[in-house]
Amino acid sequence: MKIIPKPENITMLEGNFTFSNSTQIVGLDEFLSNDLRKFVDLKNGEKNSCVFTVAQIDEDYRIEIGENIYVVANSNEGIFHAVQTIKLLILEYYKNEYSYIPCCIIDDNYKYEYRGFMLDVCRHFYSISTIKKIIDAISLFKMNKLHLHLSDDQGFRIQLNRFPLLTDIGSIRKGTRGDGKPVSGFYTQSDIVDLVKYAKERYIEIIPEIDLPGHTSALIASYPDLHCKGKEIEVEEYFGIKENVVCAGKESTYQFLEDVLGEIAKLFPSKCIHVGGDEAPKTQWMECDDCKETIKKNGLKTYMGLQSYFTNRIIKYLKSIGKTPIVWNEAYHDGELDKAATIQFWADGRKAQNVKRALKEGYKLIYSNNKYCYLDHPYSILPIKNSFKAINEMNSLMQFGNVFGIETPLWTEWINGEDKLLKMAFPRTLAIAELGWSIAPGDYNDFKDRIDNGLDALFVLDIASASEKQANPNIVSSFFGILKFYAKMIDKELPRTIRNFKNIKK
Ligand code: ACM
Ligand code: ZN
Repeated sequence: MKIIPKPENITMLEGNFTFSNSTQIVGLDEFLSNDLRKFVDLKNGEKNSCVFTVAQIDEDYRIEIGENIYVVANSNEGIFHAVQTIKLLILEYYKNEYSYIPCCIIDDNYKYEYRGFMLDVCRHFYSISTIKKIIDAISLFKMNKLHLHLSDDQGFRIQLNRFPLLTDIGSIRKGTRGDGKPVSGFYTQSDIVDLVKYAKERYIEIIPEIDLPGHTSALIASYPDLHCKGKEIEVEEYFGIKENVVCAGKESTYQFLEDVLGEIAKLFPSKCIHVGGDEAPKTQWMECDDCKETIKKNGLKTYMGLQSYFTNRIIKYLKSIGKTPIVWNEAYHDGELDKAATIQFWADGRKAQNVKRALKEGYKLIYSNNKYCYLDHPYSILPIKNSFKAINEMNSLMQFGNVFGIETPLWTEWINGEDKLLKMAFPRTLAIAELGWSIAPGDYNDFKDRIDNGLDALFVLDIASASEKQANPNIVSSFFGILKFYAKMIDKELPRTIRNFKNIKK
């Protein structure tokens, strides 16, 4: 059976169940009942039934397919997951306008609590309808988090009532790398209300990110007081690492950010708020009297220590309003970070050691090692088969502590337009969905035997995915693909990025 993510156990039985438009659906609300019935176009046929019940069981859901279908799940969310599995079965066995699904028993449970997808809407802006398509797809494959990266150097993308300039100024840039074509866009508060509701119906929690203290040129362009020297800058049109970070020494910065996060918290009911922490050069802080004074007053040793102080103050505020913070792995430094933070691991190499230490110290971890999870990497750098290699590292990290889950980020510096976006995201996201959900995921060959049904399902959702072949390019096209990707990064701003990179760990 071609189910992605692979269920924990399938026991095949004799016979078939005919799923048709006459199949009576019992125990689902109208939304789910329609979702199940309309996934593919079925004709009227045999009268039989598909019955859903919530009960206390020690797995997420169980589906018994015989003369009728009986589903038991331990929650409404488990019912939703079972519906997704049955949709994939209907599609796989759809012939002559019925589905003759082989009788079987499916027992299923999830491995990780957090199964996420991240979309960067700052470097390029994506419409609510594109995001809804992504929600349709990730929920079909039993993911449960959509992390929206809403603030970065190249744009601020959400309307806040208290700070109109964040969108009047911060959501617009003059062009991209000198092309002179303005890029703009933001979500209104009613867009967000609509999106959160849409996601909730599909058991997806939307986690907003305001990246701090770095990647904040759009914030500073809107409100220059946030800069150590009050410098007036423009929303960035080049990519890379920028030195314009918010001042960690001025009290007014903290007040501003609390007001921003307070308004964000009201819009997103999610338990977690992501507050970034990646790639924050200390260039400005090293020249700022307020920052130096804060270091002295608080007995801090380094500028990295000042970043920990800054993040801990933001975390203290988030805790006071009942939210759980998530940060990128650079925000964890020398054991100074508040234990309430969940750390998102994206950078490999030496930093993997830090992550092991963080796990041992009791921090929760979301796994997003760029080597296996970054969807902005072209298929020549990250072929889908390589995503499966994350299993070994995740299993080894689990020995050290609490791996909370996995997330696959899609940065959009080099991705402009829905078609390209969806081709980068899919089918790789299906591999990450399997690693997040399956207690015993298949290896890549096993996954490959099921992928055609996954691609067909994406097609039903109006998503033109890359093919399995495109997702695993051959050596020659990989070589040129890699060259092209890195050549693109060479521009007049590269020396600035290199300089700033050196100032991250001060
Ligand atoms: C990141 O990729 N800078 C989190
Ligand atoms: Zn400062």
